[in-house]
Amino acid sequence: MKFIEIKPLTPPQVPEMLTLDQICLGGLWTEEGYLREIDSPNSSLLALYLIDRDSKEQKKTIIGVGCLWAIVDEAHITLLGVHPDYRRQGLGQLLLLNLLEDAIARQLKWATLEVNENNLGAINLYQKYGFKVVGKRKGYYQPAGEDALVLWLKGMEQREFKSNLAQWQQELRDRLSINAYYLN
Ligand SMILES: CC(C)(COP(=O)(O)OP(=O)(O)OC[C@H]1O[C@@H](n2cnc3c(N)ncnc32)[C@H](O)[C@@H]1OP(=O)(O)O)[C@@H](O)C(=O)NCCC(=O)NCCS
Repeated sequence: MKFIEIKPLTPPQVPEMLTLDQICLGGLWTEEGYLREIDSPNSSLLALYLIDRDSKEQKKTIIGVGCLWAIVDEAHITLLGVHPDYRRQGLGQLLLLNLLEDAIARQLKWATLEVNENNLGAINLYQKYGFKVVGKRKGYYQPAGEDALVLWLKGMEQREFKSNLAQWQQELRDRLSINAYYLN
């Protein structure tokens, strides 16, 4: 069995997060960037930990990250990443659903993000939960000059969305347990 948990990132974990950022996001944010998010009341910066229950001190390793910024009634998803060794097992979904749950707790109504138009895996993930492509930002990703798709999800304040979210979370727990992951 593999035990996992999702918790807000804290300053002592930033160096480890920078390593994950390099591996999984190509070095997107700096140490200052992570510390700023930790400090900001308008940000939720979540780390996904794998817990080694056999080790004496229950060693935790960061294997994923997700972040949102709350701006008025919108959740801007600014980071989502899972370590390559742990992908395609439902952990990206787990982080995304946790961010959406956090957005609801903050009473946000919309969620939005930019994604590289060639990043079909991530686009699939967002579309699975109702995000729709509403536009494109030309040459958004430098230096390659690739375009970004702009995705929006609406209606997070509606009762139907909240009940869908609860159902997705249940389905995900079942999927995770098939992969022997248990949420702490
Ligand atoms: C995008 C990312 C977070 C997905 O993490 P993950 O743990 O593999 O995601 P999940 O296992 O929860 O997959 C969820 C769904 O996303 C879609 N998906 C994820 N990776 C995919 C891929 N390589 N190809 C096609 N679909 C994919 C599928 O619909 C998948 O559901 P399924 O496994 O039932 O088919 C991960 O690939 C990653 O860290 N990529 C690099 C960083 C990045 O691109 N982040 C997004 C920036 S906007």
